[in-house]
Amino acid sequence: MQVPDEHEEEPVREEFVQMSKEFEQLISLVTPMIKNHIEECGRPKTTPLTKWALPNDLLRELGPLTNEPSSIEECAKAIETTFKYSLKTMHPFFMDKLYAGSDPVGQIAEYVVAILNTNVHVYHVSPVFSVMEVECIRLFGDQFGFDPNTIDGTLNPGGSMSNMMALLAARHEHFPHVRQEGWRAEDRPVAFTALQSHYSINRCAMVCGMGMNQMIQIPSDRMTGAMDVEALDKAVQGEIEKGNTPFFVNSLAGSTVMGGFDDQEKISSICKKHGLWHHIDACWGGFLIFSDRCKRTIFKGCEKSDSIAFNPHKGLGTPVQTCILMTNNKDNALKKANTSGAEYLFHETEYSKYDIGDKTLSCGRRADSLALWLCTKRQGINGFKKLADAAYDKTMYITRLIKEQSDKFEMVNEPVGTNTCFWYTPPYFRKGAEGENKYTDQYKTNTHKLIFEKMKEEGKLLIQHNPLPEFNLPNFFRLTLKGEKSRMEDMPYLLDEIDRMGSNINSTILDNFKP
Ligand SMILES: Cc1ncc(COP(=O)(O)O)c(C=O)c1O
Repeated sequence: MQVPDEHEEEPVREEFVQMSKEFEQLISLVTPMIKNHIEECGRPKTTPLTKWALPNDLLRELGPLTNEPSSIEECAKAIETTFKYSLKTMHPFFMDKLYAGSDPVGQIAEYVVAILNTNVHVYHVSPVFSVMEVECIRLFGDQFGFDPNTIDGTLNPGGSMSNMMALLAARHEHFPHVRQEGWRAEDRPVAFTALQSHYSINRCAMVCGMGMNQMIQIPSDRMTGAMDVEALDKAVQGEIEKGNTPFFVNSLAGSTVMGGFDDQEKISSICKKHGLWHHIDACWGGFLIFSDRCKRTIFKGCEKSDSIAFNPHKGLGTPVQTCILMTNNKDNALKKANTSGAEYLFHETEYSKYDIGDKTLSCGRRADSLALWLCTKRQGINGFKKLADAAYDKTMYITRLIKEQSDKFEMVNEPVGTNTCFWYTPPYFRKGAEGENKYTDQYKTNTHKLIFEKMKEEGKLLIQHNPLPEFNLPNFFRLTLKGEKSRMEDMPYLLDEIDRMGSNINSTILDNFKP
């Protein structure tokens, strides 16, 4: 084997020359597609959100996967098809979900992560990503008022996983034997959550073996969406009297449907009174911590909680999935709950705190920290503030517009965060029209379903709709404003579009509509 002289420049191996060329070729083919995608989203009134196709059509268009390799051009063609048929979540009128688009710096981060292609479990294979992860958790924990010296946490693949890790840490704190032995008959664990909380918390109860029936559902207020704190206090007391062992409360900072914010101060004092772990699911509403308009009121008491789950990708325009679980004053609780003693992987070193994998349920972990860190660097806290304030201001504006058009629209409740929940009334059912007094709950439900179908067909905008069975509320639109790129002046357009799509709806059309 010939070893190059140390003064001679080592030639790049042929396969790496090829890889570099292939990369350049792909970039040159894909860059125009990306630019086109971004620019199309920037013409939202004439660009449809999606080109709808059924699975078989997509499979045909993509072509089969075969034994033979494909050319770069063929791969680029498949990427073009991916762009063509994928939903444009960056489009300002994609309002169907709690996330939307992402920033260029976050997109490039994803690309760099794929090139560096490593796992964020131990520091020595991911030094930069590990440091970024710890730093982001510290920074976001600080925003929520956690003690800077004790903030700990992890990035997780989803808010559901963050909620689960919080429940597992609480379980370990109260029932340390479960890790090894499983539950004992005398444990009788019970936990509490708002009836309007995200379904993931019930799944967490299922996964951690206590069972969903032991996640007790506390009712919330019809108008604010906030948990009934007195009912919580009574429920905790009641369970103790039955001989059960309460150990965990999940409260909400931004419920999925109504956008309700719980009274964290009062919930925290109930938790402290009974020694319960207080977790806050701020996955959705957490981004408003950056808004000076609401920070001081709706987040009061968050700093006293034991853990917070927060998804920057929902409100702050970072890429899916950038999700944080932060703990407060919990002395390594995540590591204690999850450590596997895998000595082949984790070694005690001066930088062990950056061996993040041992605190999680995963071995291999994606380097989501780069996207989060870079988006935070690009925006700065002030950029996040602007974004959160803008979402809040647009919510207030559209709420005013809805109230001003009370013949056409009706608010379900007064928004607390940025969920605007409202019903639409088609002309046929309005005051003085033929169908006045005929707008039953069934008709209301089907009106919103029918307009949503039209939204999907036309692709001009997408706003989600849902019922709220807890209060027997028929389907309504739920606009969830966040860091998407809609403008203030788009708000009247959204309402006008709904009115246009609903203008010909009457009882006959609804009677024949099969949702
Ligand atoms: C309040 C709340 N918590 C948790 C989640 C779950 O987050 P993920 O979808 O990242 O698992 C959601 C998702 O919408 C949510 O709204």
